[in-house]
Amino acid sequence: MTESQPRTQPSLRVDLAEATTRLAAAGVESPRADAEQLAAYVLGISRSRLVLADWQDGARDQFLALLARRELREPLQHIVGSTGFRYLELLVGPGVFIPRPETESLVEWAISAIRPDGRPLIVDLCTGSGAIALSLAYELPRAIVHAVERDSDALVWTRRNIESIGVPVALHQLDITGDVAAALPDLAGRVDLVISNPPYVPADETVEPEVGDHDPQIALWAGADGLDLVRAVERVARGLLRPGGLVVVEHSDRHGETAPAVFRGWDEVADHRDLAGRDRFVTARMPLTKQRGSSTGQ
Ligand SMILES: C[S@@+](CC[C@H](N)C(=O)[O-])C[C@H]1O[C@@H](n2cnc3c(N)ncnc32)[C@H](O)[C@@H]1O
Repeated sequence: MTESQPRTQPSLRVDLAEATTRLAAAGVESPRADAEQLAAYVLGISRSRLVLADWQDGARDQFLALLARRELREPLQHIVGSTGFRYLELLVGPGVFIPRPETESLVEWAISAIRPDGRPLIVDLCTGSGAIALSLAYELPRAIVHAVERDSDALVWTRRNIESIGVPVALHQLDITGDVAAALPDLAGRVDLVISNPPYVPADETVEPEVGDHDPQIALWAGADGLDLVRAVERVARGLLRPGGLVVVEHSDRHGETAPAVFRGWDEVADHRDLAGRDRFVTARMPLTKQRGSSTGQ
């Protein structure tokens, strides 16, 4: 190129190929998809329209800046500020756990297990962004949905999402290792469904940088066997559910046998796989003769 010729910037296609190589080298699991999502985000278009697009104005510089953040393994969802969960787009960022696709299966199970004509009373324990509670309130408009969360930083995001989605969810700041049934006296013994994706990473497990460095620690770790919070959910569910009520709890793929064992004494205890075929959540029904207050689980 001579000095008098105008400089041309690389095309979007060339930059996407280069970005994919850089993200792959950084260990990102889905480098092409992430590069495309960043480009679509800065251009304000859907990924499927990238094939017809090219850089405009300052979009390339913005893309390169965001790419550098992703290369350092900052989660894509934090960079773009939101994530999809079932029918909803939820706001996420530092301080709140990013909802995962596998959790959508619990919501699917709950919706199919609940009578569509009723007015079910539902409690989501460990709600984080509110993904489960808001999806249930959105997809079951007759349901009465309560959500429980301990962490003040997470609650900032729960409130933002309740506001932005605009469906009714009653939010309670509570520690589920405490006496939640006593803290919610109007609900004790009356709830139709308790649902939870609690922290469940065992202490000895190694997690990806996106998880360990960016999801809140309180959202991840759950004791030596990873079941501390599953046990807390079982105890709280026993206090909240009506006889015949249902509980559904997500667990790690290492817990396909140990999580159901926590629900000893319950009826219809079953474990379920996610769409990737991994053991993912346990469901159980409160016996019609309820053993309130006694530990049926351990
Ligand atoms: C794995 S995240 C799940 C968040 C959300 N339910 C989802 O599926 O995306 C677990 C959540 O439990 C909350 N949590 C941890 N310990 C808790 C406790 N003792 N009581 C209430 N919430 C707790 C964390 O702050 C975090 O928001």
